[in-house]
Amino acid sequence: MSASVERLFEPFRLANLELPTRVVMAPMTRNFSPGGVPHADVVEYYRRRAAAGVGLIVTEGTTVNHPAANGYPNVPRFYGEDALAGWKQVVDAVHAEGGKIVPQLWHVGAVRRLGTEPEPSVPGYGPSGKVKDGQVLVHEMTRQDIQDVIAAFAQAARDAKAIGMDGVEIHGAHGYLIDQFFWAGSNQRSDEYGGSLANRSRFAIELIKAVREAVGPDYPIIFRFSQWKQQDYGARLVETPEALGEFLKPLSEAGVDIFHCSTRRFWIPEFEGSELNLAGWTRQLTGKPTITVGNVGLDGSEFLAFFGNTQEVAQPSGIDGLLERLNNQEFDLVAVGRALLVDPDWALKVRDGRLADIKPFSRESLATLA
Ligand SMILES: Cc1cc2nc3c(=O)[nH]c(=O)nc-3n(C[C@H](O)[C@H](O)[C@H](O)COP(=O)(O)O)c2cc1C
Repeated sequence: MSASVERLFEPFRLANLELPTRVVMAPMTRNFSPGGVPHADVVEYYRRRAAAGVGLIVTEGTTVNHPAANGYPNVPRFYGEDALAGWKQVVDAVHAEGGKIVPQLWHVGAVRRLGTEPEPSVPGYGPSGKVKDGQVLVHEMTRQDIQDVIAAFAQAARDAKAIGMDGVEIHGAHGYLIDQFFWAGSNQRSDEYGGSLANRSRFAIELIKAVREAVGPDYPIIFRFSQWKQQDYGARLVETPEALGEFLKPLSEAGVDIFHCSTRRFWIPEFEGSELNLAGWTRQLTGKPTITVGNVGLDGSEFLAFFGNTQEVAQPSGIDGLLERLNNQEFDLVAVGRALLVDPDWALKVRDGRLADIKPFSRESLATLA
């Protein structure tokens, strides 16, 4: 092991969470759970990564118990006896390999289209509505709807704890429901959940508090957020470190333990005048541990294959730049998406300097649960 790669394979400790390495598997929707239930192939998929140097698995987005939570085919549920029994198998398999795992709790909000599972007649739900030719495509959420969704997240967190998950990750990123409230581009409400960024954060703050209340003081809560939206890669919630600090403070105080700062390329400075990326700034501003992500181990390719119909291939690359930032303690943990999706042994190959053996990522990589 070269000196600089050592920190990536050091344990990470935070109260009740002890990770064997600092490699995190990024949450990636795989659409391999027919009827919303993760089966044996999904169990094996996660087990393989836990057995090969991944310290923390963040599962693919898994939906909370609300009629509009899901947006895509064959996405696993995080409610119902059958689905939770499937997840319990995943937890046990990952633990047997010495790994840790948290579910990514997800509500897609206004991204949902009519005709989607599990109830095709249910439209998207969002902070603001959308009607076309007299048909409701997105239902504008009432205060009761807001409370219902918050309760669904709290219940999912309770269930995560009950089946032995090591914590939860709340999906507040990428233009899905929680982020639709954050973002002025999708939140035109005139009540206390709209207007200023502080008001647009109210939904997330109440939701985090409810999850904290449900799981107690010592259970790890990870919160994933992003500036970019799947609807607009260039979108930004905040333009300055000061504004980022103001945005994060109430979320942090509501009960977040770790921030998962989603960027598309980890090496891009978040603000002018400093090399720090989003995870670096977030760590400084909140004093909480952070996870970085975005093109780790890949060549910087533009695309995120789940949104674009691209033939582009992402080639493996070395991770010296990443290690330098990790060793400087810019962030605490490193999430790896596509490189781990295509190559379960990515972490071991990096540790052992076997870079030439790492597989490239292409759209075909999505066809199987390798
Ligand atoms: C196939 C695929 C599915 C994804 N699904 C999710 C998801 O369910 N939740 C989420 O927060 N991010 C999701 N992402 C984003 C990844 O977590 C990650 O942030 C992104 O791929 C950048 O990391 P990478 O360059 O290492 O792949 C997905 C990415 C891919 C490629």
